[in-house]
Amino acid sequence: MSKRVIITGAGRGIGYALFKNFLDNRHEVLGISRDIHHLSLLSDIPQKHILSLDLTKISSYERILEAIPHWDRVDILINNAGYLIRKPFKNLSDGDFEYSFSLNTLAPIRMIRILTPLMSRSSHIVNISTIGAVQGSKKFPGLAAYTTSKAALCNLTELLSEEFKSDGPIINCLALGSVQTEMLAQAFPNYKASLIPEEIADYIYRFSLEGQKFYNGKVLSVSIATP
Ligand SMILES: NC(=O)c1ccc[n+]([C@@H]2O[C@H](COP(=O)([O-])OP(=O)(O)OC[C@H]3O[C@@H](n4cnc5c(N)ncnc54)[C@H](OP(=O)(O)O)[C@@H]3O)[C@@H](O)[C@H]2O)c1
Repeated sequence: MSKRVIITGAGRGIGYALFKNFLDNRHEVLGISRDIHHLSLLSDIPQKHILSLDLTKISSYERILEAIPHWDRVDILINNAGYLIRKPFKNLSDGDFEYSFSLNTLAPIRMIRILTPLMSRSSHIVNISTIGAVQGSKKFPGLAAYTTSKAALCNLTELLSEEFKSDGPIINCLALGSVQTEMLAQAFPNYKASLIPEEIADYIYRFSLEGQKFYNGKVLSVSIATP
């Protein structure tokens, strides 16, 4: 059955590959990014919806429901948009932390807040975090703002699963290892990941369709390698 799906950060990298995957499989998808150029080049079919938004701006959020006025439900929300800044802690400003938390933590909170009224017990929220945010995992110097803001997203997942227990939606978090995208290349220029966006997108695609039958409130490590 065709699902109604919202993906943030769909303009490039993992989110773009995910968007294509859902569209190729005839699901109805809303893709959100600031730059929607690549999304606009995909063939225009009725299931395709794209929206250029900066998710760090509170005024953006009222435009999301306006973009899908005919949707009476949302089956899957994938909070994928992310921002990574790599700097020694002593050089990270309050602004660096504020921006990281604004996109990596507050944006998923706002998405969940506006979309849960359209979600049911069988709907699935998939938060995309990083392996470094998992307690006890290997840590990377220079990623304090990124990793702490993603760790908050992991914790939010566990907490909301309790709060949503009776009426849904189901909520899980995937803590990814390295995938060869612009974000990784910028942060670790000399490192080459073994996974490309299409490979991890295929896993996230299947997990977002099936994972809610097996997991709730879980932070799952999906990591074969890290820098
Ligand atoms: N690649 C990895 O190795 C890796 C590892 C662990 C976790 N992850 C996580 O996986 C997710 C996807 O990462 P990626 O590697 O595909 O990163 P990416 O290539 O940098 O893509 C990030 C996406 O987020 C969007 N975005 C950034 N700022 C935004 C804003 N203010 N408002 C709306 N959208 C915004 C970007 O589009 P615009 O710039 O056009 O807005 C882009 O589509 C992220 O959450 C990341 O933390 C990645």
